[in-house]
Amino acid sequence: MAQERYHEPVLVTEVVAFLARKPGIYVDGTLGGGGHSLALLHALGDLGYAEQSLLIGIDQDDAALREAASKLQVYAANTAVVKGNFQDIDALVKRVCLEKGLEPCVAGILLDLGVSSFQIDTAERGFSYLRDGALDMRMNGAGDLTAADIVNTYEERDLARLFWRYGEEPRSRSLAKAIAAHRLTHGAINRTQELADLIRNHAHGGEKVIKTLSRVFQALRIEVNSELDVLRLALDGALDCLDAQGRLAVISYHSLEDRIVKTFFAEKAKSDWGPKGVGLREPLTYGDISLITRKPLSATPQEIALNSRARSAKLRVIEKMPLRESVSEK
Ligand SMILES: C[S@@+](CC[C@H](N)C(=O)[O-])C[C@H]1O[C@@H](n2cnc3c(N)ncnc32)[C@H](O)[C@@H]1O
Repeated sequence: MAQERYHEPVLVTEVVAFLARKPGIYVDGTLGGGGHSLALLHALGDLGYAEQSLLIGIDQDDAALREAASKLQVYAANTAVVKGNFQDIDALVKRVCLEKGLEPCVAGILLDLGVSSFQIDTAERGFSYLRDGALDMRMNGAGDLTAADIVNTYEERDLARLFWRYGEEPRSRSLAKAIAAHRLTHGAINRTQELADLIRNHAHGGEKVIKTLSRVFQALRIEVNSELDVLRLALDGALDCLDAQGRLAVISYHSLEDRIVKTFFAEKAKSDWGPKGVGLREPLTYGDISLITRKPLSATPQEIALNSRARSAKLRVIEKMPLRESVSEK
């Protein structure tokens, strides 16, 4: 049985409206509890496209795969649920298509970044500063590096750099110093609440402590799961497997992710007009994509009132351009 409140998907109506436009292969690279996938399959069904469509759902977390498989059971014939990291999206899609004898031409892809509510709420996964659990944070439950490894083995200056780069935490240096001192006097920090208490004491319980807690936990999670590196790889891979006029939608939840998505899309959308002043009538090469959302879409106040997680969500959507002959090829 699918769990009642595994994860409330954000911006569902918007994602579905942008992606569900024709029959074909759709990829949910961050399947989670399957909320977006289910809505997408419903929409394809309403349009009469369900029979000719396949949804490939990817997640690196076994619990998510179990939950989604159960939620998507009614569409089992049109669904393939795959364990993997979305950094390998192109290869994973090709493998599924080969097994099913399909051309790997993808009509739509969704990446809904970060962790699910279920992952955050499961204390022993170690994602939450509000729940006591082992300092783990591995999304796939199996990588070599845990958050405890980072907190207990990184040099003070590397911890400071990490809190600054991946958490944008202004007190990164003094926090790293406090952690290094704590390790010397009290030994290893292995529980989320030990780390959270240390941060709270360091901030003297001031108003900003919640922000510091979330920044430090975010920084550790990004490092444990190499989140920014795999996102860059996933964007490239997603573009590779998209069909012409296929769409990619990405929902990000913090500025570091959104910056990567925004920069990648802007780069790929650019046409090359050659040196300034040449005055070409057509570009030397056309951009690979067009921006469907020029500015990121946010959730409505109504959605945010029902789902606080939607507050920080930003949705960007692009469409892959058909191959066009450039001036130099004519
Ligand atoms: C925000 S949740 C997605 C929720 C989903 N859209 C839904 O409707 O339930 C993000 C999911 O992506 C997964 N995930 C994050 N990074 C991943 C990666 N690099 N490869 C595969 N799955 C990833 C997480 O395990 C989590 O289940």
